[in-house]
Amino acid sequence: MLQFLMKGGTPLKGEVVIGGAKNAALGILAAAIMTDEPVVLENLPDVSDINVMLRAISDIGASVERIDRHTVKITAGTIHTQRVLFDYVRNIRASYYLIGALLGKYKYAEVALPGGCAIGARPIDQHRKGFHAIGAVTEVTHEGALLARAENLTGHHIFMDVVSVGATINTMLAAVLAEGKTVIESAAKEPHVVDVANLLNRMGARIKGAGTDVIRIHGVEKLHGTTYPIVPDQIEAGTFMMAAAATNGDVLIRNVIPKHLEVISAKLLEMGCRVEEYDDAVRVIGCPHKSYVNVKTRPYPGYPTDMQPQTATVLALADGISMITENIFENRFGYVAELNKMGADITVCEKGDVATITGVSSFKGAAVEAPDLRAGAALIIAGLCAEGYTSVSEIKYVLRGYEDFDAKLRGLGAQIAMVTDEQEILDFIQKTGTMEEAAELFPFLAEK
Ligand code: UD1
Repeated sequence: MLQFLMKGGTPLKGEVVIGGAKNAALGILAAAIMTDEPVVLENLPDVSDINVMLRAISDIGASVERIDRHTVKITAGTIHTQRVLFDYVRNIRASYYLIGALLGKYKYAEVALPGGCAIGARPIDQHRKGFHAIGAVTEVTHEGALLARAENLTGHHIFMDVVSVGATINTMLAAVLAEGKTVIESAAKEPHVVDVANLLNRMGARIKGAGTDVIRIHGVEKLHGTTYPIVPDQIEAGTFMMAAAATNGDVLIRNVIPKHLEVISAKLLEMGCRVEEYDDAVRVIGCPHKSYVNVKTRPYPGYPTDMQPQTATVLALADGISMITENIFENRFGYVAELNKMGADITVCEKGDVATITGVSSFKGAAVEAPDLRAGAALIIAGLCAEGYTSVSEIKYVLRGYEDFDAKLRGLGAQIAMVTDEQEILDFIQKTGTMEEAAELFPFLAEK
């Protein structure tokens, strides 16, 4: 069984380079099929969510040419169907961006909807509201796909009821080729919204105001090809910042936009850590006695929900009692039971939106399971701090969003490996400790 195995206790030290933003890249890949000319995307992260999206684009007929590990050239003039009904697309939520892109370009889209999600219901009513406003009709088909079609798309004034990254990007995609002017009010302001808008503008779209809560789009007749580097991943960077803090390390995190990380840096400073900002890097220096802090997740520029679990891991080792309020998703404390197995002291209120974290002095290694992507990262950070060995299973979630996570952590001195079988487990333990230390976690070692 594929899992991450680690021996905790080494403060992370050194430099790590952050890759392109997965969530920006997912919207950008959809945008790239809106022209028949080649679009070259650089700094594309090599993670499974992106590879699923590339496969879907290729399976509907676009040419996807990998120039190197992080650069692809997409030429979409050969798309032969607007029906994206492959079962595998249900595994990634962001496949819904293909609806906006195909609807905008071909006035027709049918895309299999994602299945249930570990972090809550995640409706798409606001995406549909955006499509309807510019003249499309939509229906959920009996195959579990969203079908959207229009005779003509015409710009309109849209007031979103909730601030949604997905609905903002999807509406923007569908509206860039609509006739006339579209205004999206209560738009999401996340860096990935801005990055998708920047790419579309490079392709000839006329979008203004991305990054504010009002986005104005003047429809154009046609988009053209371009070359575009994807923005650095705010959440990957934030995850390494928390890993540095949790292990009392000293890490220079390179290829970042410090402005995108300010709210994370501010929390680390409140905890007592040191954060130094450079033009395109941040350095985080942990401290042994971190202070409790309270965190409330909010849409950007508020505290990102995607950083909530990693932050909880650090706070579980801080002095005092911290509170985390999750305001975005309804079921985002799935990792708490796992972290508590490692000795954390966290309780979640009955409603499920507030966690009370009583700091403990250390974690103890355990076998834990990743319930979702960011929770998986949080458990890995916990394992790096814990006494003894920790195994994190269900790492398919982690591989969806972190490229070479174990290799990057090893580069910072962590003792971590991705293992699949008993032999690899044995090799790792022989390299890092003794059979006795790991026997509780892996009873089969007793026979060795
Ligand atoms: C995106 C990110 C995800 C991140 C989230 C919030 C991608 C691929 N994923 O997800 O990692 O955690 O933003 O920053 O970029 N909502 C509705 N109706 C809708 C759409 C959303 O009620 O039609 C609600 C959701 O239930 C949630 C809130 O709006 O409570 C925000 O969700 P949204 O910003 O849409 O998240 P995603 O785009 O799915």
